[in-house]
Amino acid sequence: MQHKVTVVGAGNVGATAAQRIVEKEIADVAIVDIIEGVPQGKALDIMESAPVERFDARLSGSNGYEGTAGSDLVVITAGVPRKPGMSRDDLVTINAGIVSDVVRKVLPGSPKAILIVVSNPLDAMCEVARRVSGLPRERVFGMAGILDSARMRWFLADALGVSVESTHAFVLGGHGDTMVPLPRYSTVGGIPVTELLPREKLDAIVKRTRDGGAEIVNLLKTSAWYAPSAAVVEMVDSVLRDKKKILPCAAYLQGEYGMSDVYLGVPVKLGRKGVEQIVEIALTAEEKAALEKSAGAVRELFQILKV
Ligand SMILES: NC(=O)c1ccc[n+]([C@@H]2O[C@H](COP(=O)([O-])OP(=O)(O)OC[C@H]3O[C@@H](n4cnc5c(N)ncnc54)[C@H](O)[C@@H]3O)[C@@H](O)[C@H]2O)c1
Repeated sequence: MQHKVTVVGAGNVGATAAQRIVEKEIADVAIVDIIEGVPQGKALDIMESAPVERFDARLSGSNGYEGTAGSDLVVITAGVPRKPGMSRDDLVTINAGIVSDVVRKVLPGSPKAILIVVSNPLDAMCEVARRVSGLPRERVFGMAGILDSARMRWFLADALGVSVESTHAFVLGGHGDTMVPLPRYSTVGGIPVTELLPREKLDAIVKRTRDGGAEIVNLLKTSAWYAPSAAVVEMVDSVLRDKKKILPCAAYLQGEYGMSDVYLGVPVKLGRKGVEQIVEIALTAEEKAALEKSAGAVRELFQILKV
């Protein structure tokens, strides 16, 4: 393949993202995990599916970073997932240590890489990766908004009995309880959903979107991976193929939306340089207040960080 991606963490999200990347032949993938045998075993198992699934991209697994050198992009999923009753925020200290360690080890071999952070609490882990790497904001961003929007899109498609392909949804803000789903900017076939569904039904969809992560945790007793890995791969694809898709991602704000020095889910243009533009949309006073509240929650986590 023309491109190379490193996925750190061969758990549920990392391994499934790696599988999707090679199956789509977007890039060759090197997957790294600290558990002996797991990245090697998963890589081998996925490669043994290649003749049947018909892909020629290569996946390799290891416990070290030698095989990751020259990566264009690094996806960081290493960390511990949320358990029932545990908030994303409880994870901050332990995952900050893991993400710092990963960034320090992966960058020397791949100094030009773009970092996509997935580990939770997402916005805080993006900040850890930014501080430790010293990279510009264009090259350090996080996955959350595509997942949250995809959940909302599925709920809308299901409620209206239409193809998911006709839906578009906007979820901004931090990846946590204060995320900001925006029905006003969400459409089905180009028609605002506010014209298609009664207020109570929309409110229920917004609430279910906000609680989407917890709904899965309660069912699976661990956090989701099919939809999260699909969301990661949409970002990887937009960057490596320089598609310049407008996607909601966690980006470091420097004046946009009237805020600075904080990671927040906003629409960005994702291309070969990473975050090529942060798109500002007009918000009502109520929406702006919700976004600021979300930023406040993210900033509280930043204060806990010791990196
Ligand atoms: N941003 C999002 O929307 C989103 C969605 C789902 C999950 N997540 C987060 O992604 C992370 C991974 O979730 P998961 O379900 O795949 O968890 P998982 O437990 O299945 O996998 C995590 C893997 O990371 C590995 N790991 C731990 N420390 C490491 C290190 N120092 N170096 C390399 N690997 C290391 C573990 O051994 C494990 O295999 C969690 O933090 C989870 O909360 C985020």
